[in-house]
Amino acid sequence: MNLILIGPPGAGKGTQAKRLVDARGLPQYSTGDMLRAHRSAGTELGKAAQALMDAGKLVSDDIVIGMISAALEKAGAGRGFILDGFPRTVAQADALSAMLAKRGEKIDRVVMVDVPFSLIVDRIVGRRTCPKDGSVYHVKTAPPKVEGICDLDGTQLVQRADDTEAAITKRLTEYDQWTRPVAGYYQQLGLLRHVDGVGTPDEVYGRLNAALA
Ligand code: AP5
Ligand code: MG
Repeated sequence: MNLILIGPPGAGKGTQAKRLVDARGLPQYSTGDMLRAHRSAGTELGKAAQALMDAGKLVSDDIVIGMISAALEKAGAGRGFILDGFPRTVAQADALSAMLAKRGEKIDRVVMVDVPFSLIVDRIVGRRTCPKDGSVYHVKTAPPKVEGICDLDGTQLVQRADDTEAAITKRLTEYDQWTRPVAGYYQQLGLLRHVDGVGTPDEVYGRLNAALA
């Protein structure tokens, strides 16, 4: 299955994608995670993206389209995938369609995780991530076993540089301006399903699987 998870910042795309990866063995491609890996590695691409990301602005279409194109090419056709955080502009969605058409593939399902903006700030402000393996926690709803420490590799958890209130406000504006139209794009193609993202991660995961059945 070729699946796209779409939704506002902090909706739980990464959290749900991780569960689908574990359950279905599909590879996950998150442009946000890829960009953060570039930043950690200090690449030119990472340096170019850093200021935009920290301000909550989208990075250029060319950069993210290039990253996804390279990842899909490397994986080869026919294995299925989960895209998390891509596409988030209509230009990216068009580029993805063209990329897939070339290899005789298409998107099978697009799931929008709906969470009201009023809940988003709490989710994002409480998020802690492992800088080493990318695991995502929340101080209240998904705490690690030992406060501040990754369960999987013992690394000190950090807050993302774009998880400040100013950056969150900008990320929500960018979402409204650029990413909502992407939902419309897939709605027109008859591929979009909505999943209520309010509730425990287990409850949301149950709804997600029902939407994929
Ligand atoms: P990206 O990394 O994609 O960030 P985002 O879209 O803002 O989404 P998040 O990762 O913040 O949220 P999420 O939905 O994954 O939620 P999570 O599962 O972590 O992008 C970052 C930046 O990179 C962008 O701003 C842009 O600059 C750039 N970028 C990336 N892709 C791009 C693209 N395609 N084009 C241009 N620029 C791009 O959950 C959040 C928190 O909530 C966690 O603490 C979690 O534990 C908790 N939580 C999850 N589910 C629940 C639940 N059901 N109940 C309670 N808490 C929950
Ligand atoms: Mg994420």
